[in-house]
Amino acid sequence: MSEMLEFIQGLPKAELHLHIEGTLEPELKFRLAERNGVDLPAASVEEMKAAYDFDDLPSFLAVYYEGMSVLLTENDFFDLTHAYLAKAASQNVMYAEIFFDPQAHTSRGVAFDTVIQGIRRAQEVGRSELGIDTQLIMCFLRDMSVESAAEALGQSLPHKDWIVGVGLDSDERGNPPLKFAEVFARAREHGYRLTIHCDVDQEDSVAHIWQCVSDIGVERIDHGTNSLEDTALIADIHERDLALTSCPISNSFVSDGTKASSIKALLDLGVKVTINSDDPAYFRGYMTENFAVAQHEAGLTSAELVQVSRNALDSAWLSDEERAPYVARLEAYADLY
Ligand code: ADE
Ligand code: ZN
Repeated sequence: MSEMLEFIQGLPKAELHLHIEGTLEPELKFRLAERNGVDLPAASVEEMKAAYDFDDLPSFLAVYYEGMSVLLTENDFFDLTHAYLAKAASQNVMYAEIFFDPQAHTSRGVAFDTVIQGIRRAQEVGRSELGIDTQLIMCFLRDMSVESAAEALGQSLPHKDWIVGVGLDSDERGNPPLKFAEVFARAREHGYRLTIHCDVDQEDSVAHIWQCVSDIGVERIDHGTNSLEDTALIADIHERDLALTSCPISNSFVSDGTKASSIKALLDLGVKVTINSDDPAYFRGYMTENFAVAQHEAGLTSAELVQVSRNALDSAWLSDEERAPYVARLEAYADLY
């Protein structure tokens, strides 16, 4: 292992953009399919992996939703989440904020309760046995109706103490943030923190980011690197100290590259950009691999990588008291190098 890769592997990290359903590795998918008597469209793990050659967001999403057919019971959601937490902990991820997509499950007849109880049980094991702390962010599917999002918000309320915020994901084309302005306003009233996906190089990307910042008032933007195309927009994001959660390997699948140069440009501007894995089982790269790709392509220094980790901790939805031990671990690591 190169010295830089060793540095990245050991770097204490925080992940802020991770879809738990996107951590479903083909091997686990086959195991759950067998356990639940579900037919899969591929005969082997190799055949399934060969079909993971997406070239835009919709082609990825089709495979992502199809994969969820094996997730039926509380134990399935436990196994899914536990596997991610073990992998993340092995890469020195100290803390993660995890997205989940309840509508993708309730629309298949799987109860909201089943989903969250399974995830929750794994989070507790993650904390006690793996030493990784996590919080949950519930995403609305933007290609479903506003009424369906409002219903999901209502279903979440009995579990409010387990959910730190809400997000917006799925197919962005024709589904601007403003479509969900009222649901997000209601979520804020209930005490949820707000973030929204503005995927890379989408139709109307810049206009969508403006809506998030000016109309909805999000605290973070997931992806959002197209904000660099508009100097007034990036100045506004900087001024408001909003974080952007970038996902280099994911970018290379759904657009024309990792956008590592945008990450470097954002760091140079002092914007709180972070590096994350998005859907690591489908894009084949967890945190270490995503940091390594961005470092290699943009020539990031170890100090800049520490800054990326620091940005994630600073923009994590934690109190200063909760944040302090993670920052101390990061600073101790940086001092060693
Ligand atoms: N759902 C899961 N991953 C996503 C992504 N990167 N963008 C939009 N929706 C998603
Ligand atoms: Zn995402």
